[in-house]
Amino acid sequence: MNAFAGQHVLSLNQYGRADLELLFDTADEVGRELAKGDVRRDLDGKILMSAFFDKSTRTRLAHETAMLRLGGTVSGFADAEVTRASGSTQESSDDVFRMLALYGDVIVTRHPVTGEPARVSESMDNALVINAGDGTGEHPTQALVDLYTMRQRFGSIDGLTIALVNDLRMRCTRSLLRGLRRYDCTVRCVAARGMHMDPVLRAEVEGAGRTITFHDDLVGLLPELDVVYSSPTVAAELPEDAVPRPAAGELPLSRELLEAAGKDSLTVMHPLPRKEELPVDVDDTPYNGYFQQAANGITVRMALLRLMLGEPDAGRSAA
Ligand code: CP
Repeated sequence: MNAFAGQHVLSLNQYGRADLELLFDTADEVGRELAKGDVRRDLDGKILMSAFFDKSTRTRLAHETAMLRLGGTVSGFADAEVTRASGSTQESSDDVFRMLALYGDVIVTRHPVTGEPARVSESMDNALVINAGDGTGEHPTQALVDLYTMRQRFGSIDGLTIALVNDLRMRCTRSLLRGLRRYDCTVRCVAARGMHMDPVLRAEVEGAGRTITFHDDLVGLLPELDVVYSSPTVAAELPEDAVPRPAAGELPLSRELLEAAGKDSLTVMHPLPRKEELPVDVDDTPYNGYFQQAANGITVRMALLRLMLGEPDAGRSAA
């Protein structure tokens, strides 16, 4: 039985290194099937319910596309305003999720309240929950995509030097750090003003034996880095007035700076959507890893759904 079979996906803390590597091997297998145009449609008859209480482009559509490519079907909502979850007859979150669990096999949900996907999953025994981003909590499937993209580009996450830059409070950064601590890599952090890492998260990672160093100057670090992982300047998952915004371009990544670092393998990653922290002139360079990330959003979620809903031993034979 793999660690994903029949289990909710709520936090990167659920997974050890072997679990992550199994998922990534399975994603490699899915990638080969996609390249050949011969995908096993082994989720025929399964239904994915999207329950998005907050905006999304990539996460919802990637999960839905993944399910469709595996032969399953999708239903749900991208805007809670069109459901009884809002408005004058607003029903409780418990009732909404109880209904969704009656209708689908897996519920992928984004919610503004931190911990809500985990809370509703506790009383759910007939469907699985995927946390697609909860408040300032976690965004586990984004981190799975990010880790897979690093492994795909470099062969291994071990040995990499990775800088997390910009807003270090973000849920995608939180999940990514919880995954990176399973690997023998070096993590450097360059926070924008007022956007520092939660000390509890730092202690958690350092408690796992990983060293994180904090820096003010990204430019000086670039020559030693393998990955620059940036995140949105505007914290989309926080109320607008809760975000101390840095000046535009406070931590600029530019084509010129990246070229000056003199390292062709340097990879810029970003979960998207982007603002001024990631200028479009990086798009057409070898440093661009963020569109590969976005494409991997399908492959990794296909692997995840296959492991969660498919045969219990699915993925065991992946190369
Ligand atoms: N990366 C990410 O979560 O994007 P969306 O907000 O578009 O889902």
